[in-house]
Amino acid sequence: MYHIISIRDFERSDLDYLLDRAQEFDTGNYRPGMLDDKLVALLFFEPSTRTRMSFATAMARLGGKSISVDSVEASSIVKGETLADTIRVISSYVDAIVLRHPKEGAARLASEFATVPIINAGDGAGQHPSQTLLDLYTIRQSMPVDGIDVGLLGDLRYGRTAHSLALALSLYGVTLHTIAPGGLEMPANIALELRERGMEVVEHPNVEEAIRELDVLYVTRIQRERFPDSASYYNVASSYRITTDLLDGVKERLMILHPLPRAGEIDPAVDRTPYARYFEQARNGVPVRMALLHEVMR
Ligand code: NCD
Repeated sequence: MYHIISIRDFERSDLDYLLDRAQEFDTGNYRPGMLDDKLVALLFFEPSTRTRMSFATAMARLGGKSISVDSVEASSIVKGETLADTIRVISSYVDAIVLRHPKEGAARLASEFATVPIINAGDGAGQHPSQTLLDLYTIRQSMPVDGIDVGLLGDLRYGRTAHSLALALSLYGVTLHTIAPGGLEMPANIALELRERGMEVVEHPNVEEAIRELDVLYVTRIQRERFPDSASYYNVASSYRITTDLLDGVKERLMILHPLPRAGEIDPAVDRTPYARYFEQARNGVPVRMALLHEVMR
C-alpha cells in the first residue's frame, strides 16, 4: 500500500485493515507524535473544504506538518509546467503528496513520477478513495456492510465518490440501487465492471420507488463543473430532493449519507431526523485520513 490511487487497487482485506486502523485512531489508541518528523504536500488544483482540511487536521493530530498549493492560478502550472515536473520537484521536498486534480487519471500519472507516496484526493470524474473509506467507516459504525441495500442517488456519471464507493461495496456483497437523472446514469463501463464483480445492480426511475428497501441512501450533488455547457446542467438541475415527506415508511436503520457539499439535494429539515448522518460522516474524515497518512509514511 504505497500509493492510494483507486479503489480498484484494493482487496477487501486492505479496506478492512484501514478501517480497523481508523477505529484505533478514532478511539485515541495511538501515539500523538507518530508522524512528527514527516511533511506532506497538499496539492489541490480543484476546490475543497473537507478533504483538504481533514488531511491537514489528520497530519497535525499525528504531529506532522503540511504545506499546500491551493490553486492552479497561484502555481507554476500557469507558466506551462507539466504535472509530471511539479510532482518530481515536490517529491524532493516532502514525505507524501495528497493530490486533487480536475483530470481523471492525474493521480495515477503523478504516481509514475513521484518518489514519495501519492494519495488521490479526487481526480476529475475518476476516483476518490479516501472519501470511500470514510463512507464505509460511517456505515460500519452502525451496521455490518455485508449484504446491505445501498442506494446511490444523483450524478452517477460524473460523481467520483459514487464510482469509488460502488466499486468498494462490490467487495461486500451489497445490492446497489442506482437512481440518476436522465443522462447522468453510471457510466456503462463501471456498471459492467460492477456486474462482473458479481454485484447486483438495480436501476430505479426515482428515489420514491427505492427508498423503503434501503439501508443506506447515498446522495450526491450534480457535478456542475464537469458539464460541457450550462444548458445541459440546467436540464437536470433540481431534479431530485430528499424531504422529510419521503421518509415515511423507511427502514428504521436507514442512514442518509452525502459526501458534501450539498447544493439543494437534501432539505435542511432532514438534518433533524435520525436518518441524517452526513455531518458525522464528514467528521469521520479525520480518523480515516490519519490511518491513511500513517500507513503510507510509517
Ligand atoms: C466530493 C468531491 O470532491 O468529489 N467532495 C468531497 O470531497 N467531500 C463531492 C462533491 O464535490 O460533490
